[in-house]
Amino acid sequence: MMIPACRLADLPRGEAHRLDIDPPVSVFHTDDGEVFAIDDTCTHQDASLADGWLEGCEVECPLHASKFDLRTGAVDSPPAKLPVRTHQVLIEDGMIYVQPSTDAPNLPPCIVARLAGGPA
Ligand code: FES
Repeated sequence: MMIPACRLADLPRGEAHRLDIDPPVSVFHTDDGEVFAIDDTCTHQDASLADGWLEGCEVECPLHASKFDLRTGAVDSPPAKLPVRTHQVLIEDGMIYVQPSTDAPNLPPCIVARLAGGPA
């Protein structure tokens, strides 16, 4: 199912838009005009990648500076070890849509524990 994210015209280059779905997904508009969608939560700890820094096709986590490749979700810089999921993006009539991945997300241990009802 394609989820409408926002209008491309409302997402300036170099910025991100977070979708409040579960788990949250963020759409990034690069300086080169490309649009990518990845899981918003860093795989290291509970940080929003939409609040991070976008440089080229990489986003840097605002908490401990891990870097993720927006094209593949791969970790380019530690301390994160696991990749973030990537999601398919479609732009139609100026609207950005996201097709959520069916793969299991790599959520950080603190989030997994919270979802399981344990201490955060
Ligand atoms: S929370 Fe992202 S690198 Fe630690």
